[in-house]
Amino acid sequence: MSNQIRITPSILNANFDDLGGEIERISATSDLVHLDVMDNIFVPNFTFDFQRASEIIAISKLPVDAHLMVADVDLIAPKYAEAGCASVTIHAEATTDIRMTLRAIRSNGARAALALKPKTDIAPYLTFLDEVDMLLIMTVEPGFGGQKFMSDQIPKITRARAEIGSRDIWLQVDGGISLETIESAAVAGADTFVAGSAVFNSPDPSAMVSTLREKANAAQTF
Ligand code: DX5
Ligand code: ZN
Repeated sequence: MSNQIRITPSILNANFDDLGGEIERISATSDLVHLDVMDNIFVPNFTFDFQRASEIIAISKLPVDAHLMVADVDLIAPKYAEAGCASVTIHAEATTDIRMTLRAIRSNGARAALALKPKTDIAPYLTFLDEVDMLLIMTVEPGFGGQKFMSDQIPKITRARAEIGSRDIWLQVDGGISLETIESAAVAGADTFVAGSAVFNSPDPSAMVSTLREKANAAQTF
């Protein structure tokens, strides 16, 4: 048995002046588009406010996977669901009421996801697995694209896959995913892959998504 592989390109390093066009370029081969929302408080970088994000969500040809790297996430996360995101990810380190916020995302019609920064232990959060549709293991410190994949996160991915067991929960990795690193993450059990610079720095982003998918499919052992 194997899990379905999903590739969710991040537009963080795409052309911000034409995000609709950039999303269209990858829409034939990608499953969702990954939207990195940063507030310059939770992470030392700023991307979009809610209004700009809503515009992108409205024009996107692909379902939107919003990754909220913002401090006031309990209040804003349900609004991203309401705005039409297919999936909304909150950081365990940012929320004050994980269960309430995950439930509010689901009740506003989106898949609910929980993200863990590299230094965050998974053990305290296993209790929330029944509230999530996706778990995101960060493989870089959140904030910037183009960073090096942290291979010391592989044991956390393996543990997450084991804890998920037969539950229908996607296991996403984000940060430094490329042709060189996607196989190790897939072998460990990831099935949903964010790739930013690997896709948008490629001469043919759409073809790169397909190649990443083939590599992940071939590497999958579970
Ligand atoms: C980092 C973001 C990532 C990033 C991925 O904080 O969450 O989604 O854009 O970019 P690459 O694939 O270049 O590491
Ligand atoms: Zn991200």
